[in-house]
Amino acid sequence: MLMYNIIDKKKKGGELTREETEYFVNGYVKGDIPDYQISALLMAIYYKGMSDTELLNLTDIMAESGDMADLSGIDGIKADKHSTGGVGDKTTIAVAPVVAACGVKVAKMSGRGLGFTGGTIDKLESIPGFKTSIPKKEFFNIVNSIGLSVIGQSGEIAPADKKLYALRDVTATVDSIPLIAASIMSKKLAAGSDKIVLDVTTGTGAFMKSIDDAVTLAKKMVAIGEGAGRETVAYITNMNVPLGIAAGNNIEVIEAIETLKGNGPEDFTEICRNFSASMLNLAGKGSMEECILMADKAIENHSALDKLAEMVKMQGGDERYIYDTSLFKKAPYSYEWISESDMYITQMDTEQCGKTSVLLGAGREIKDSVIDFTAGIKFYKKTGDYVKKGDIIAVLYSSDKEKLNKAAGYLKQAYKTGRSKVEKQKTIIAYVSKNNVIMY
Ligand code: URA
Repeated sequence: MLMYNIIDKKKKGGELTREETEYFVNGYVKGDIPDYQISALLMAIYYKGMSDTELLNLTDIMAESGDMADLSGIDGIKADKHSTGGVGDKTTIAVAPVVAACGVKVAKMSGRGLGFTGGTIDKLESIPGFKTSIPKKEFFNIVNSIGLSVIGQSGEIAPADKKLYALRDVTATVDSIPLIAASIMSKKLAAGSDKIVLDVTTGTGAFMKSIDDAVTLAKKMVAIGEGAGRETVAYITNMNVPLGIAAGNNIEVIEAIETLKGNGPEDFTEICRNFSASMLNLAGKGSMEECILMADKAIENHSALDKLAEMVKMQGGDERYIYDTSLFKKAPYSYEWISESDMYITQMDTEQCGKTSVLLGAGREIKDSVIDFTAGIKFYKKTGDYVKKGDIIAVLYSSDKEKLNKAAGYLKQAYKTGRSKVEKQKTIIAYVSKNNVIMY
C-alpha cells in the first residue's frame, strides 16, 4: 500500500477502506509515515469529509491503537461524560460527585487544558495534594469503594489521537466534524464506560461555531457510541458566553463546590442538573424527571459535596478545602473592570475570553508553561445583562502584576456593548439521542 495513493484517493473524495485506514493510523503511530503525508491526508479529510463507514473504522482503529480500559473490575454500571471544550467548563467537578452520590459509578479519565479551553485535570490539581496520576489498581479500588474517581488520561489511551491531535493543532485541521468525532469517541470507547453523556458546545468559544454543525457532530458521536454498544446522548450547549462566572483553575473549583452547596450560577446549575440526570437516566435510575429530583436531593442533603470531599481525600488531597473554600490560595493581584456608562452587553467573543485567561497564567502558552492556579477571570456581566455605570463587569486575577493591564485590554476587546436590549441566550440548545433531536 502506498500513502501517496491514500492521500490522492481522499483528495478526490473517495472512500477509504478499513485496510487503508489501518495502514495510515497504525503507520503514523509507529513512526513509519511522516508528518507531512498525514498532514496532507488530514487536510483532504477536512475538505472531503468521511462517510459513516469510514468514520466508524477510523474511530475504532484509533481506540484500538492503545489500551482498551477494561472496567469490568469495577462493579455495576459506569457512566461517563465529555465536553468538546469551552471556557469556564468545570462541569465534571460538580456532575461526577452528584452522579456517584446517587449510586452510579463514575470512573473518569479527563484531560488538561488545550488552547483557550481549560482542562479538568489542571483544575483538580489546584486542590493541594490531589493526585491525578494513580496506578490502575488504586483507581479501581477507589471507584469500587466510593463510586468515584477522576484521573488524568494515560498516554496509553488512544495514542493515535494524541499524535493526530498534536498535528491537527498545528495544521489548522482541528475544526473538522469527522476528525473531532473520531478523536473524542476513540478516547471514550477506550476509556471503557457503559453510558456516555456528551456536551457539544457551540458558539464563539467552541470549535463548532454554528448550531447546525454542532447537531451534525453530536449525531455522529451518538451514532459511534451506540454502534459500539454504549448508550450515548448529547446536549448542544451555548458557548457564546463562558459557562458560569469563573474561568481559571482554583476559582472554577470553588464555583463547582458552591454549586454542590446549592449556590451555583444559574446557567452552570442548569447544565449540572441535566447532565447528572441524564447519566442517572441512562444508568437505569428512573425517568429524566425522577433523576432530576434525585440530583437536586444529592445537592440539598450535601451528599454530593461529601462525595467530592471523599474523592479528594482518597486521591491524596486536602478535603478541608471542599468544606472551607477560603483556604484556597488567592491571586496576589487583581483588576476590576468597572463600567463607565449604562449599557447592555450585546456580544462576547468567548474564545478571546479564554485566551485572556491563558494570558493571565491559567493555561499554557507553551507546552511546558507552569500553570498559575489562582489566575483567571470572573465574568460578573455577560451577554444580555444590563450594566449600570459603576457596576463591575469582570475581575481579572493573576500572580503576575505585569500581565493584568495587558489582559484587561484583551478582555475589553472581547465584549461588545450597546444601548439596545439583547435577549439572553439559552444555555441548553438541543438534546440529541439515537432516535431524536429535541430543540429547547
Ligand atoms: N476535544 C478532543 O478531544 N478532540 C478534538 O478533536 C476536539 C476537542
